[in-house]
Amino acid sequence: MAAATIFVGCLLVSSLVRAGDAAAGADVFKTECAECHTVKQGRNKKGPSLFGIVGRTTASVTDYSYSDALQQAHWVWTTDKLHGYLSQPAKQANPGTKMKYSGLTDAKQLDDLITYLDTLH
Ligand code: HEC
Repeated sequence: MAAATIFVGCLLVSSLVRAGDAAAGADVFKTECAECHTVKQGRNKKGPSLFGIVGRTTASVTDYSYSDALQQAHWVWTTDKLHGYLSQPAKQANPGTKMKYSGLTDAKQLDDLITYLDTLH
């Protein structure tokens, strides 16, 4: 019985780890992204609001002036797409973008961050 409890506990922990830690992701957001982004709906800074970014179409904040590059991207921000975009210099993921960000190379931080972004709906 105890062994079974431990086994289930481990499964739970490992699935949580794979999914990322939203609280840690909120901290990553503060250090990496908050200079240019808020997560408040309708509040843009240098970059557009990231409220509801997971599942959103590129360049869809109507009162934000996007680069031509991002306006022409026409993709949906899935968690996979965010992984690709945020793990390398944005200039590489979307040549011509005006997001001046060098990329987040720490895989754990990236997972945590994207898990956090996925809570903003
Ligand atoms: C130095 C400022 C800056 C930093 C730091 C920054 N961004 Fe951006 N971001 C921008 C700008 C500017 C744009 C608009 C890009 C364009 O129009 O080409 C943007 C666009 C985006 C978009 C596309 C939004 C949409 O509506 O299509 C996403 C997603 C994004 N940023 C996520 C992030 C995340 C997550 C971080 C932190 C890891 C981050 N950015 C860090 C400035 C920044």
